[in-house]
Amino acid sequence: MGQDFFYEKLIRPLLFKLDPESVHQSAHHALLTAGPLIGALPLRYSGQGLRVKLFGRELLNPIGLAAGFDKNGSLAPVLGALGFGFMEIGSVCAKPHGGNPRPRLFRLSDDEALINRLGLNGLGAQSVVTALAGKKFSLPCGINIAKTNDPGISGEDAVEDVVYSFSLVKTLPVEFVTINASCPNTTEGCLKESSVLAATLERVNAINDRKLPILLKLSPDSTERFLEEVASICKDKKVAGYVCGNTTLTREELSTAAERLNAIGWGGLSGKPLKHLNLRLTQKLAKLKSPEQIIIGVGGIANGQDAFDYLSAGAHVLEIYTSFVYRGPSCAKQICEELSAILKARGVTLSDLSAGHISATA
Ligand SMILES: Cc1cc2nc3c(=O)[nH]c(=O)nc-3n(C[C@H](O)[C@H](O)[C@H](O)COP(=O)(O)O)c2cc1C
Repeated sequence: MGQDFFYEKLIRPLLFKLDPESVHQSAHHALLTAGPLIGALPLRYSGQGLRVKLFGRELLNPIGLAAGFDKNGSLAPVLGALGFGFMEIGSVCAKPHGGNPRPRLFRLSDDEALINRLGLNGLGAQSVVTALAGKKFSLPCGINIAKTNDPGISGEDAVEDVVYSFSLVKTLPVEFVTINASCPNTTEGCLKESSVLAATLERVNAINDRKLPILLKLSPDSTERFLEEVASICKDKKVAGYVCGNTTLTREELSTAAERLNAIGWGGLSGKPLKHLNLRLTQKLAKLKSPEQIIIGVGGIANGQDAFDYLSAGAHVLEIYTSFVYRGPSCAKQICEELSAILKARGVTLSDLSAGHISATA
């Protein structure tokens, strides 16, 4: 009996009877306290064919944990045990924030999806950096920063807010920094002004003494025109790549009843129904980006075929969040095993796939 069977048939039905955010907090606590024990479980993919380089650092596999699961980075010292190739801490904001009122996280089990409007809750950049300073991370990490959830912070103040977070997180031992320009769960929503983005990147570059690769996280709800504008700015400002992408505010082709969706209300949709949107976003950016820029594909990746689809569409590495909630702790390993079998059956390697869309070894 596999761990996936054990989780899906025995543990998940019990967890899914409870409030989603309380389960998340308990899982967090359990991972922190049981870290060394989890390390003894066989949750890591042990095959060889999925090693990949990300900004010069070798990852054991291309499946990362997406931003949002570990907003303050407290799990970075233990999460390596769960078989991820890397993880993205955050979003971290300049100021501490409690987020939106509860309830703000909902399961759509019939769609293997989640809706969240957490609203960038977190301890704030200074506390995160103080808590993580000197800690040893158990896997390669990126860190995701976003503008503080406060509509009063706009224009030049918005630039200042993000640059302040960058000035603090750049001291951590991370491989890259993602600027989250696409959180739908704040009063002001996604970044809409490309001039603010250009000014932010300019200022970040000016203090990026470690030459940390900067990525931009995009929204599947962006217009074609906005993406073109953003891609042009990102080429100009030497952005290292894109995370494609965030959750969507759209509610298309869902099995969940309209009454339930209405009762839940607004928030970002993630999981299976997001796949076709973020795959399309990946394809668009693969065409717009410069050859050396990379793409992290994320959105509805739950199995090896999903992973293969994103890699074929132009992603270099991948991230998951919602499938980890639905499939449990062995999810990354399962995806790796299935992806490896698909690559073998097709007679291709991961480098064959990325050779098609990046020119330098990222
Ligand atoms: C509960 C929750 C919280 C999230 N918080 C963040 C966040 O703070 N910053 C961010 O960039 N993305 C956040 N995301 C988006 C994920 O990183 C990811 O882009 C999205 O969920 C799509 O991937 P998935 O379908 O595998 O979940 C969050 C997602 C969920 C479900």
